[in-house]
Amino acid sequence: MLGTHINFYYYSGTGNTLLIVKEMIKNFSAKGIQVSLYKIEDTDPKKIDIATPFGIAFPVAFQSTLPFVWNLLEALPRAEKTPVFMVDTMMAFSGAVVGPLKKVLTEKGYNCIGACEIVMPNNWLPKQINEEENRKKINSGLRKAREYVENLIEGNTSWGRIPFLSKGLYHACCNNFVMQHINLAEGRKITVDKGKCIKCGLCSKLCPVNNINMKEYPQWYDSCELCMRCLSFCPVNAVIIPGKKFKQYRAVKAKELTEKTLGEN
Ligand SMILES: Cc1cc2nc3c(=O)[nH]c(=O)nc-3n(C[C@H](O)[C@H](O)[C@H](O)COP(=O)(O)O)c2cc1C
Repeated sequence: MLGTHINFYYYSGTGNTLLIVKEMIKNFSAKGIQVSLYKIEDTDPKKIDIATPFGIAFPVAFQSTLPFVWNLLEALPRAEKTPVFMVDTMMAFSGAVVGPLKKVLTEKGYNCIGACEIVMPNNWLPKQINEEENRKKINSGLRKAREYVENLIEGNTSWGRIPFLSKGLYHACCNNFVMQHINLAEGRKITVDKGKCIKCGLCSKLCPVNNINMKEYPQWYDSCELCMRCLSFCPVNAVIIPGKKFKQYRAVKAKELTEKTLGEN
């Protein structure tokens, strides 16, 4: 069903999803399936090749996923049974993604062949980082990713229709209005500690929705989707939320998120 070439579209805030995607690519390649990898934030949905099977990978956010990820999925062109698989990463539970995404894709004519949810370390403002525990979670996540690839190749996967709570949660979570109001509680906006900032501009470069204007110091506009990149990768911990204490979590180096992907080369 997958053939010898697939496209893979992914977004990863802090690297968990990217680790899973890379592990899957390694295992697809070992079985002779060539994978072209694309970043969701750089993808024009109209240019997606619907003649080729593809995968979608993203992190769970507030029982759903980030609005810009949904925007791409909802803007996909109509297809004639193109096989699609999905994988998401989460810290514990996702209620509103798998079923609603299947609905969106099925209505557009895609053939939803497999969905897999993988528990990874929490990246949502962790109070502390337990390296040992995180390593165990990542190892078990990578194992699940390898098994998923094997099952996809053998045709042994499925994509559940509407999991528990998903419909209501979809409406509660999957819209920009809700996401922005979660983020923009007054006095809790992401900002910069000018005393620490070294003006490197990495936060602005990493932002997937171009929400950070790098003047002398970074300035945030109003369309933050809370992906955690600016907070997690600042080399001097200068990106802060006033009154919130957290430890930076990242699973990869910043350059792995900004470098060209296999599909772009
Ligand atoms: C804003 C935000 C909301 C999140 N909401 C959930 C959630 O509802 N359920 C869950 O299990 N994990 C949640 N997480 C945790 C992430 O889904 C998880 O750590 C994921 O693996 C991060 O992947 P990434 O490093 O590729 O961005 C949330 C993380 C963030 C930043």
